[in-house]
This record gives sequence, structure tokens and C-alpha cells, in this order.
Amino acid sequence: MSIVNKLRCEYRENPIGIDCTQPRISWQIQSDTRSWLQAAYQIQISQDIEFKNLLWNSEKVLSNQSVHVEVHHLVVEKCKRYYYRVRVWSEQGEQTDWSEIAFWEMGLLQASDWQADWISTPTEQFPLETETCPLLRHTFQVKGHVQRARIYATSLGLYEMKLNGLSVGEQAFTPGWTSYKHRLQYQTYDVTDLLTSGGNAIGVMLGNGWYKGKLTGRGKKNMYGDRTAFLMQLHIQYEDGTEEIITSNSNWRAAESPVLMSEIYHGETYDARLEKINWSTATYEDADWFPVETLQHTKDMVVAQENEPVHKIEEISPIALITTPSGETVIDMGQNMVGWVRFTIQGRSGQEVTLEHAEVLDQEGNFYTDNLRNAKQTIRYILKGGAPEVYEPHFTFQGFRFVLLTGFGESIRLADFTGIVLHSDMERTGYFQCSDPLINQLQHNILWGQKGNFLDVPTDCPQRDERLGWTGDAQMFIRTSTFLMNVATFFSKWLHDLAADQLEDGGVPFVIPHVLSEKSHSSAAWGDAAVICPWVIYQCYGDKRILEQQYESMKAWVSYIRKQGNDEFLWNTGFHFGDWLGLDAKPDSYIGATDRDFIATAFYAYSVSLLAKTAKVLSKEADWELYTRLYAQIRHAFQQEFVTPSGKLSVPTQTANVLALMFDLLDGTAKERAAKKLLELLEESKFHLTTGFVGTPYLNLVLSQIGHTEAAYQLLFQQDYPSWLYQVTKGATTIWEHWDGIKEDGSFWSKDMNSFNHYAYGAIGEWLYRCVAGIDVDEEAPGYKHIQIKPQPGAGLTWVEAKLESMYGWIYAEWRQSSEHLMEIRISIPPNTTASVLLPNAKETHLRENGAALDQTTGISEMRQTETGVSLILGSGTYNFTY
Ligand code: BGC
Repeated sequence: MSIVNKLRCEYRENPIGIDCTQPRISWQIQSDTRSWLQAAYQIQISQDIEFKNLLWNSEKVLSNQSVHVEVHHLVVEKCKRYYYRVRVWSEQGEQTDWSEIAFWEMGLLQASDWQADWISTPTEQFPLETETCPLLRHTFQVKGHVQRARIYATSLGLYEMKLNGLSVGEQAFTPGWTSYKHRLQYQTYDVTDLLTSGGNAIGVMLGNGWYKGKLTGRGKKNMYGDRTAFLMQLHIQYEDGTEEIITSNSNWRAAESPVLMSEIYHGETYDARLEKINWSTATYEDADWFPVETLQHTKDMVVAQENEPVHKIEEISPIALITTPSGETVIDMGQNMVGWVRFTIQGRSGQEVTLEHAEVLDQEGNFYTDNLRNAKQTIRYILKGGAPEVYEPHFTFQGFRFVLLTGFGESIRLADFTGIVLHSDMERTGYFQCSDPLINQLQHNILWGQKGNFLDVPTDCPQRDERLGWTGDAQMFIRTSTFLMNVATFFSKWLHDLAADQLEDGGVPFVIPHVLSEKSHSSAAWGDAAVICPWVIYQCYGDKRILEQQYESMKAWVSYIRKQGNDEFLWNTGFHFGDWLGLDAKPDSYIGATDRDFIATAFYAYSVSLLAKTAKVLSKEADWELYTRLYAQIRHAFQQEFVTPSGKLSVPTQTANVLALMFDLLDGTAKERAAKKLLELLEESKFHLTTGFVGTPYLNLVLSQIGHTEAAYQLLFQQDYPSWLYQVTKGATTIWEHWDGIKEDGSFWSKDMNSFNHYAYGAIGEWLYRCVAGIDVDEEAPGYKHIQIKPQPGAGLTWVEAKLESMYGWIYAEWRQSSEHLMEIRISIPPNTTASVLLPNAKETHLRENGAALDQTTGISEMRQTETGVSLILGSGTYNFTY
């Protein structure tokens, strides 16, 4: 029996408010038959849930495609809902029932769909420099039975919205952070159940956020504009078929809120005595509120929200109440986390409490905030007094494990404090567990690095006065992130912004959205995010559209590099971060020893090689030829410049050898010598790395690629500095920016650059999943349509269990070295996929599947004894191998 399930449109289950006019539909198949392959599908799209009025019927389409099937024969209309269902036929001739019915709903599609006005506070009563967050409100009548109601809303700055006193949606930090000058996302809310007949009220609070608030280490404000504003449209459909649209306009009213200050980096100040009770209900008397001002601001850049919204994802209870040596009261959340603290307090009116947030305690055990630089991360709350009061901040988030409490008095109860973890609400798709608790903690730290730094934009860190979309960091970690969560729309949105912020000449800003100085752009390995990220998303989700979407941007980046300097095949000019934080750096330098021209040219070659592959995928023949030739020319120039005639690499660092091998830049003797040299360098350093941001993500991958997985394991299991486990043994719960963020003696690396939640080095996750567990894509059949499974057991681990939910369904790879003589490997792959498997060190003669010899097993279409093990081709299903 097989069924079609997990229907998704543009990656989402029943999305409302999309503006993609040719949405793509994906489904999974569940089947108890092995080797299930789809031979055909049929999609029906209907206006009604009974499927009486079909808008589109694909009829039976002979195709094995079950992921990203584009709906292109339908002219979609704004605000309309479309129901769809799918059935499929297998190659074995089975026909499934219709799937359960799913739907998507269009949002507003163009600027002219917005009848609403931008509204803002009157500048006379609210001078531009005022820090108090404004409230906006509006009342209206509902005149009949409501069938359906939607709010479409966005803001300059951040907004929180209420309808009749209740929160609209569960999203935080709306409308999210995009390249605001070019793109501003609106959100869609189903508010059918929040409306009542008669008088209704909408209430909104605005915050500075990324738009107007203080950003970057220089504390620049008004980055995009100096006025916050709001734009919204409420579409009410009555049961009698009529429709009414309520909009933001000059009839709205404004007043001050109790939020006296709210800044992303600095925290929030709230005076509960200023609360206006029931201010967002219809009965509230707003005679003393001021009329709003309408604002002439374009709506051309307003687009539908593309990625998953930020939500409150989980809650953490503190594990300890500490009195520090200096006498301060600190609570320990037990986890370096990102979000805020919700607390309950009872006290007298006017009493003030503060919560300051830090990632670590210092050598003596005192509260330490020097590494936050200028970010204050401080919540000040002034009580209204009387009954217990519960508080959560609005437009700020903190990166912290420890919270310093002031003003709470003597009897502090831990139960009054809860850590609220916020991040983009991406689906969790991957899990990795193994026999070594330290590696499991490392895995935990990688995951928490992702949680903390995937808050709408992929950031470098979530705590100091930075929290920016550093392109290099994102590029290094993206592949790891695809294993842990479904990050497709998260990156698709960010890449849209990358393209929007790209310079005329193709240069790529260091951070996206671009908020640094004009000159801050186009470092090698950072700007290459423009090419690497779309390619990774395509590989991991089979998403060809992201390549189409980014193609011009990818090309522009390559053409930018090509134009630099005198030699179009080398990149040896300009500023580069180099092997950032590499341990072979000169004293007092952040930049590792590896020659920067070497790194730049290597990444140039790599980006061009990916661009050539992209051109091929998109059937752009001429481009494919062009970039294939260019790649060969760069490779040649690289060899001329950096390889001696006898085949020695002129840059003798770990990172240099890693890059040359990873990007396949060497031939023959030179290639062999680089592999040998890398191992020599590792031996010299007693198997410790010296690599920085650029070399580290590829180090273990390259070792496995050149057949030295045992060396990669050695690196992995080091516990002394520098190593991944050093920080784990020091109690890290997230990934550190520096290999020695905290030194052996408990002192810190430095004040100015010492984040304890920086995911870049978490890129080791990629090797754990792709090599140790052995789950990998096949470049030719991306999105795990054809899966590579090649577990690589090594000294130090006796078992590994990994699973990944691909677009097709769950993939499992588990191995267990039960004894010296018995290896158990369990593999499971979803319907409509196939896998090439290598069972390491297996001998055909000893191999059993579920206890039986292999030739009696269905699902295995090919079997071959190789030098390194038994190679198999499997169809979908679960297999338990022993040998
Ligand atoms: C960030 C990094 C970033 C780097 C550029 C730092 O301040 O935190 O992670 O990539 O600057 O080298």
C-alpha cells in the first residue's frame, strides 16, 4: 500500500499569502513496498474543497518528478485560495488514492493591490529622536457574518499587532530584515476568528528594529530611514459574498506606549505604570490620542514573506542561581541561547529591576560583558505594582547564558524566569548521534549555533554589536545547516537580498543586508557566497529555481572578479579577510598565514566551476562553454603562479593544501604532493589544525577525499587546544568564534572579537553527516533523488545514527561496530529515490541482509566487490546489513 502525503507548496504546508505566481508543488510517498519508483502523477487544482470546479487538471503525466512540480498553466489571482491534490502511479503499476487535500493562498501581488496608506506618528508629538515606541490604533465595524478575513501588513521598523486585544499571529520581529530599499516583506494573517460583529479595534506597536535602530559596531542609526511607519490591509469577506477592505489611513490614531526604548542590540526599557489598559479593544477611549500622519513612501518594494517567520520556538528553565565572587546575583540558563527572558515579578509601583545578559562568566566566576562590545543587552522594567506582573520584551533579542539581576530583592525564585528561544521557524530535518558523548555535545553546539544565528538572516553572532549577515560565515556553514533544518526558503530569501544589494559591477557586500560602509565589499570566500549558497540549496533540495533566480547575481560576481587587477585569470588585488582567524597568523593579526592571492584565486576558480555547472543545469550552452573554458584558464594560471615546476605548492600551509585539493586545482604529481604535504603538516602539529575560517570547513572533507579519514578522526578527537573538542571540554554549549575563546587558565582570548556563539567552525557538521554517517547527495541527481551512502567508521566511535528528512522523505544511515568481527549497517531511503551504497570493508561472501544472503533480497539492483568494500545500488526501503 502506498499513499501520497506531506503535500507542500513552495516548501510550505498550506501557506497563505504567497506572491509566487508559478508555485511549485512537492509531495512525499509512503509505501511498504521496496524499490518504489514513481512512473506518473496527476495533480488537480480546484477553487472549491470538493473539487467540483477544477481550475486545472494535469491528467496523468508520465514523470518521476515528485519535488518542485511547477504549476504553470494556471493564472493565479490575488488573495485567492487554491486547493490541490495529487495521486501517483508506481513503476510496478500501483495507483494510489488521491492525497489529502492541501491548499495555498495567494496574497497581494503588486503595489497597486495596496489601497492602504503608509502611516506614521505625527512628528510634532513624536520628535524623530524620541526613543519611545508608538502605538497606533483604529476602530471599525463588522457588519455581517464573516466568512473569511485576512490581514496583510508590513512596516518600516518592526511591528506587533493586536486585534480586539488579542495578538495577531505568533510571529516575532515582523516584517523581518531584508534589503529594505529594494525589498520589504509583508505578512499575511488569518484573522477570521478574531473579528466580532459590531465594533472592532486594531492596535499596533512599532519599534526601531533594523530599519531605524542602532546597527553595527559604530552604532549607526536610521540606516534605512528616520521614521517608522505601518501599512496594512484587512480584507473581510462576508457570507453574503460582499467584501470590505479596512486599511491603514489618516483616520488612525497614535499614542506613546510604555516601551520607552527598544533596540536590537541594547535591550528594552518598559514602564508598566504607563500601560494603557485594553488599548487595542473597541471600547477603549482614545480621545487623547493624536491623529497619525500619512507618509509618502513607495510600495513598489513590498513583497510577500518568503521564509519561515521567527517564532518563540522553545522555553528553557534556568539551572542555577549564583552569587558571584563580587556579590552579584546571576541566573544560569545552562545553555547559551538567543531570545529573551520572560519573568514574573511582584512589587511596588515604581520599583525598577534590570536584567543584563552575558554569554560567560570570567576566570573568577564574575559576570562578564566585555566581549559584547557596545551591545548593552539590558532589560529595564519599572513595575506598576500590586498583582504579579509578567514581562517579555518586544523588539530586541539577547545572546546569553547568564543573566545578572538587579532590583529583584532577596527572595529570587528560579521558577519566575524562563528563557524564550526565538529563531526562524524552520523544520528540523536532521539528527546525528554517536557513541561518544563529547561528539554528541559538539553536535548539540552546532545545532544551537544554528538556532541562535538563523534569526531571519544568517548572522555571524547573536550577542555583540554586530549580528550581521556575514556572507563568508553563511557560505561556510550553509551545507551543515541543510542537514539540521530545512533552510531552503531561509536562504532563498537571503539570496534575493544578496542580489538586491549587489553592486553595479557585481561586487558583493561583506554583509547582507548591506549596512556597512560603501567600501565593505568583495572579499574572496565572503563574496563567493553569491555562488556557493545557491548551488548548495540546489544540491540539497533539488531546487532548480534558486539557480534561475540567482543566475545573474552569480554571473555578476564572477565577472567582478575577472575585472580585478591585470590578470583576468588570477585574483591578486584588493582587500581580503584571508584565512580569517587562522592560527598561523602573525602576532596581533586576525588574518591567517595563507597567501591571500592564493585563497582569492582558489575561490575564483571554485566559483567559476560552480557557475559552469549551473549554466549546464539551466541548459545555457554558450555560458557553459564560456565558464568551463574560464575555469580551465584560472586553474592553469593558478598552477603557474602557485605550483613550482616540480609540483610543489609554494604556499606551505594547511589551508593552502586543503583548498587546492578541495577545489581540484592540481594535477598529477602536484596533487599527490599536496596530499602528502597536508599530512606532513598535520604530523608536525601533532594532528592539530592551524586553519581559520577558510580552511577549517574543508579540512576533514579533504582528508576523507584523499583517503585519510583516520587523520580526520584524529583531528576530531583532539581535546587540547586547538580543536573542536577543546571548547566542549571547557563547557561550551554553542560553537566559539575562536579556538581559544577561553584559554586553559580560564582567561579570555580578547575583548573585541570573542563571540561564544559563532557557527563558522560548526561547519565540521558537514563532515560528520557526509562522511562519518555517510549521507550525501549525488550532484547529477540532486535533492537526494539519488543518494550516496558511504559510512566511514573510524577509531573512537563504535556506532553512529544519522537521519535526514529530504524532500522525498527520511533517509537513515546507521552503523554499529558490534564487535571486532561484526559490523551492522542499517540504511533506509524513501520511495522514489535510489541510493549508491558502499559498505566499508565488507566482503560479498560474508554479507547478510536481514540475516539472509543478498541475492535473495529484493531492492538491490546491483552488487559489486570493490577494494574498499561492497558497493550496492538500492531501491527505497529499509535494509539491515551485517558482515
Ligand atoms: C565577524 C565574522 C566575519 C568577519 C569578517 C567579524 O567581525 O564576526 O564572523 O566573517 O568579521 O572577517
